Amino acid sequence: MIVTVTANPLLDHLALTTLVPGQVHRVDTFQATAGGKGLNVARVLARHGHTVVACGFLGGRAGDEVADLVHHDGVEADFTRIAAPTRRGFQAIGAHVTTLMERGPAVALDEQEALIRQVVRRARDADLVIVGGAPPAGCAMLYRQLAEALATTRVPCWIDAYGPAMTEALAGPVAPSLAKPNREEYGDDHQPWLGVRELHLTAGAGEIRVRHPQGLFTVHPPPVTEVNAIGSGDCYLAGLAHARLSGYGIEAQLRYAAAAGAANAARPDVAAIGPEEIEALQGSVEVLPGR
Ligand SMILES: Nc1ncnc2c1ncn2[C@@H]1O[C@H](COP(=O)(O)OP(=O)(O)OP(=O)(O)O)[C@@H](O)[C@H]1O
Ligand SMILES: [Mg+2]
Repeated sequence: MIVTVTANPLLDHLALTTLVPGQVHRVDTFQATAGGKGLNVARVLARHGHTVVACGFLGGRAGDEVADLVHHDGVEADFTRIAAPTRRGFQAIGAHVTTLMERGPAVALDEQEALIRQVVRRARDADLVIVGGAPPAGCAMLYRQLAEALATTRVPCWIDAYGPAMTEALAGPVAPSLAKPNREEYGDDHQPWLGVRELHLTAGAGEIRVRHPQGLFTVHPPPVTEVNAIGSGDCYLAGLAHARLSGYGIEAQLRYAAAAGAANAARPDVAAIGPEEIEALQGSVEVLPGR
């Protein structure tokens, strides 16, 4: 069983159209999606047959809708209810991808403490906890405190986030077991990341640099025609988690993860990939030891 944590989920709406500034756009429908990085990871893992519990903050009617969508994705929704409403967003996917989203709710300190308790409770039966995405403003200590609280369970805690909450988590007494920054999130100062046991540095279609307890690896993702790469990092993590929990060796894990990210980039919808399309790309991933 895998627990995902999405501190700032999003009631997202996808439309297939190329936005032209100043124009009215009519579309057949907005496809409502449970958005947020942890929920992307959850959806892909559920499509691989894993039992997944989604934790995080939800509020208001948008929050109710997200919970319904999560359930529909085959994931157990075990969210912490908050007073402020969950954010909403829109993505127009065409010749280019345009995103519009609210920033997210204010979360009270007692709501943050309630989330930590809820995640720790569910983590006791879990193989892995995956935290995805930056939390809303005012939650800078949340991931640091969560990692500390989870240390009592001995369940590995992967954190894929950025901004003040990630900075605090990296500087905290219990570092994440794994981090997956992209190039921009990694920045120029590598020092903060040194305490993380396992690091996957991704760069879209570019090479992936991996520091793993078994050594260093350089991975070349398979070539695909990119349609919408949003969520590719989340699919990479889901692919890695699936391959690891299935007992694959490290090189096969990296092949599966890179193929999962690429399979997502080749589609308009976010984290809607399944095992077949990942397996089809695995053979074109190159994994090299070293560097
Ligand atoms: N255009 C692409 N072609 C091939 N593979 C891709 C492409 N874009 C992404 N990928 C795959 O997905 C992985 C993660 O992509 P990326 O570095 O864009 O993650 P990210 O910036 O964390 O994305 P997000 O946070 O939106 O999920 C890459 O390492 C690669 O394996
Ligand atoms: Mg990412």
